[in-house]
Amino acid sequence: MDLASALRQVPIFSSLGVDELAAFVDRCRVRTMPRNVLVFCQGDPGEALYVIVEGMVKVFLSTSGGREVVLALERRGGYFGELSMIDRMPRSASVMTLRRTRLLVISRSTFRECLAAHPDVAYRLITGLSARVRMLTENVGALATDDVRKRVEAALLRLAIHRDGVWRIPERPSHQVIADMVGASREMTGKVMRELVRAGRVCVTARGMTLHLRSAGSTRRSGTSTAGRDGRSSQWERSRRNSERVR
Ligand code: CMP
Repeated sequence: MDLASALRQVPIFSSLGVDELAAFVDRCRVRTMPRNVLVFCQGDPGEALYVIVEGMVKVFLSTSGGREVVLALERRGGYFGELSMIDRMPRSASVMTLRRTRLLVISRSTFRECLAAHPDVAYRLITGLSARVRMLTENVGALATDDVRKRVEAALLRLAIHRDGVWRIPERPSHQVIADMVGASREMTGKVMRELVRAGRVCVTARGMTLHLRSAGSTRRSGTSTAGRDGRSSQWERSRRNSERVR
């Protein structure tokens, strides 16, 4: 896929025309990184916004006790690094590749010019920020009230894409990453995952997972007012849909 088409899939840039996207891409840099490499660390100065053309990254915090708290996984069509672009503060979190990843690197000046020329992009960026705040709110609520099993189910649903009536996670995250998303040990998360597989709620496929969690009606997400017609929507789908609402 060429870079302009890849950029078009990113909700914040989806209102730009073909020529605008091509001109924009000409001003960006491409960075390809192997898996398990840090893109940047929490506290670094932030000079660029990153769009994922291919691959997958985790956004995380490192605790003083040596643990990681995974805030989000981002894959193709996702972006990160916008906070430092907006407030000029250091990076709020670290980002590491989980697969070989190709990134489009957008400098602060290019991004700011784009925002000034295209109010739509700015509005979609704000919509993306509200999606992230909502996600954080849900996570804090889940940490305070839900057991590990519910938190694992909610995390899996957050990663899933709903297509043809089926919830799928196209690229399977490791138990360690899921554990770091839900604030549980890898052992406990592995135990919950094995129970979910045994109960037929999660089917592990060659590349990803298929989820059958909805009928259980046991996750926080199933009853939320943000749910779409299908009952639920993933982090990615919700932020995309929200952006598409912006006119
Ligand atoms: P920035 O602070 O520039 O660098 C770290 C990036 O991680 C940040 O911008 C966001 O893009 C992303 N990020 C930080 N916190 C969260 C969160 N709670 N959920 C999703 N992404 C986040």
